[in-house]
Amino acid sequence: MPKPTPPIKPSHSQTLPNGSTAKVWIGDCRTQLPKIPEVQSNSVDLVFADPPFNWNRDYNKHETPNTKSNKVWDDSAMTADEYKSFTYDWLDLCIESLKPSGAIWVNIPDDWAAEIVVHLKTRKLTMINWCIWHYRFGQNTKSRFINSKVHALYFAKDPNNRTWNPDPILEESDRRAVYSDSRTENKRDGMPAGLRLPMDVWYGKHLGRIQGNNKERRPQHDNQLPETYLHRVIASTSNEGDTILDPFLGSGTTAVVATAMNRNFIGTEYSKDNAKAAMQRIKLGPIRDLDAARGTSTAISTRPRSRRKPPISTPENQPT
Ligand SMILES: C[S@@+](CC[C@H](N)C(=O)[O-])C[C@H]1O[C@@H](n2cnc3c(N)ncnc32)[C@H](O)[C@@H]1O
Repeated sequence: MPKPTPPIKPSHSQTLPNGSTAKVWIGDCRTQLPKIPEVQSNSVDLVFADPPFNWNRDYNKHETPNTKSNKVWDDSAMTADEYKSFTYDWLDLCIESLKPSGAIWVNIPDDWAAEIVVHLKTRKLTMINWCIWHYRFGQNTKSRFINSKVHALYFAKDPNNRTWNPDPILEESDRRAVYSDSRTENKRDGMPAGLRLPMDVWYGKHLGRIQGNNKERRPQHDNQLPETYLHRVIASTSNEGDTILDPFLGSGTTAVVATAMNRNFIGTEYSKDNAKAAMQRIKLGPIRDLDAARGTSTAISTRPRSRRKPPISTPENQPT
């Protein structure tokens, strides 16, 4: 039997006024995760992971002449084989950390989504949803279709014993918002009148990429996810008091949303500066009113249309 790794204290730790805690360990998640007590005791309820994509992103934007000694993740250094084995290593550590009722979400672009899906299946997890996060303003190109999506993969250890809370994420149905269809007002599926679950393609208000003068945008950070995206994940697939792990903290979106929603957060981050900035962000809390999306419509056309067809013209109903 290999000797158990001694647990280590977090590099940063804070308790919020609502009693939830945030703990962050600085370093490579592959070496730090095995030393985290909650990971060692397999007591994580939910993992959310938004890994580096090996796209040559600058995860070093905090660097100044005074901080040059900071170690920063080199996002272009790996060959395809190296990236694949890096991915499988952190995935396995995250799977290992989960309770039997635990679940994992992975945010990943087209390049590696297929490999991750197959790996999670190989590890006997069950796919619950393969969601697409659709955004406008992808990188412009003339030689192929413009990328406008990332995959949000949702897998559970046990599909029959997992956390699922539809209520906080319900949307107004198109039947109500667009078609005035009375069937949605008398639902037989137990859902509240006029509401339904979001579809598996995610877009809409406050679900765009965090760019330009977006109010959520944090300085010195590339690749920040929208708070509303994390709210959807955390509200539907975890409970208050749960432990949520994000191995790639970044600007801290998962941590900010989780702690604001009375969950406890643990995470790892390679860059010291990113970790420090994320801890400050956790104190500030989310920018958005996270509950505001409930009951709103994401219908593509919001022009109300009547379901009633115009009467068929017959000799009897001709105007006189
Ligand atoms: C795509 S960003 C995460 C963004 C985050 N979801 C957000 O909303 O801000 C990836 C982050 O992982 C960090 N990172 C990269 N490789 C890592 C590793 N092996 N272990 C821990 N953190 C790593 C990078 O420094 C970067 O901050």
